[in-house]
Amino acid sequence: ETVGKVITCSAAVAWEPKKPLVIEQVEVAPPKAHEVRIKVFATGVCHTDAFTLSGEDPEAAYPVILGHEGAGLVESVGEGVTNFEIGDHVIPLYIPQCRACKFCQSSKTNLCQKVRSTQGKGLMPDGTVRFSCKGKEVFHYMGTSTFSEYTVVADISLCKVDKAAPLDKVCLLGCGIPTGYGAALNTAKVEKGSTCAVWGLGAVGLAVVMGCKAAGASRIIGVDINTKKFETAKEFGATECVNPLDFKVPIEDKIIEITDGGCDFTFECIGNVKTMKSALHACHKGWGVSVIIGVAGRGQEISARPFYLVTGRTWKGTAFGGFKSVDSVPKLVDSYMAKNLKIDEFVTHTMPLCDVNKAFDYMHEGTSLRSVVMF
Ligand code: APR
Ligand code: ZN
Repeated sequence: ETVGKVITCSAAVAWEPKKPLVIEQVEVAPPKAHEVRIKVFATGVCHTDAFTLSGEDPEAAYPVILGHEGAGLVESVGEGVTNFEIGDHVIPLYIPQCRACKFCQSSKTNLCQKVRSTQGKGLMPDGTVRFSCKGKEVFHYMGTSTFSEYTVVADISLCKVDKAAPLDKVCLLGCGIPTGYGAALNTAKVEKGSTCAVWGLGAVGLAVVMGCKAAGASRIIGVDINTKKFETAKEFGATECVNPLDFKVPIEDKIIEITDGGCDFTFECIGNVKTMKSALHACHKGWGVSVIIGVAGRGQEISARPFYLVTGRTWKGTAFGGFKSVDSVPKLVDSYMAKNLKIDEFVTHTMPLCDVNKAFDYMHEGTSLRSVVMF
């Protein structure tokens, strides 16, 4: 009965940066050609949402509906949509997969560029928006805007998943978990028997630990200044944990000492340019690979001694764990259903949409791994 009509529903609107989100009644227009309207069932709250809300994100347009770690059901589809039908269970994807652009045609990257320019401006691919509130247009975010009971996304920014999968869990496959897990498996290509170290034991770092374990690493060293993170890290597969504050020497020196020359693979999951340098320096001469996953603040630059690269270390990075989104996310859902991938363990808090601001508080206090908002 809602098909083809404007839907009025609740959404958390960010009217301006640095202010709490406001729960508003918004109007959501029907999907246009090659778009899908989704009834959002649950959404995770991620650092990237907080980063944008902090005003640090130069691209953000306001007012905006944030959220990019959601899952829901297809409510209706626009003209020309062939891959989805009403009732499908879906996960919106902030990196789409159009299968046609230069990036999609390359096996070396997952960074589909098809809708990049409009998505960055908070617009649908045709350059317009589907949200309005109090007579004002409201911008989209990361092509997903999951902090709304209903949202509209491009049909290339969406994948269909197993209907048996709990949406309040698999929503986390929209961002944080694939980002870390894929960084270990796809980007670093962690090898069996290798030694790994992971800086930052939040959700992203734990997903890296899980990936290193899945790849058969024999030693996985967790690095965090908050020792409360160590117990969970060990449950995820860390074989030992170190606190940089416990040593007089830089942590990279300590790690080089305890690993007989450095790690085969290191990962930075904090977003701090200093720890990025430590992680590179802690790599083994000749073959060590360091992967940057954390997102650094605006204008920050990394530095390291070039000699570290000359002598055979590699510095790299990925977004969304290098996973081609439409192809991979349904498979990750299947691995979760087969109990080969942890998701439940990442959910530390759940809340209704009206309490979404609490999720940001828990994140800033460092008390949550992931908060999931249930609609
Ligand atoms: N040295 C070691 N650990 C640190 C340091 C430091 N200098 N600074 C912070 N940490 C630890 C924190 O104690 C925390 O446990 O890093 C961890 C970061 O975890 P979260 O804040 O929970 O972040 P997470 O959601 O895992 O995301 C990590 O990835 O997506 C990006 O923007 C995101 O940059 C962020 C990163
Ligand atoms: Zn593409």
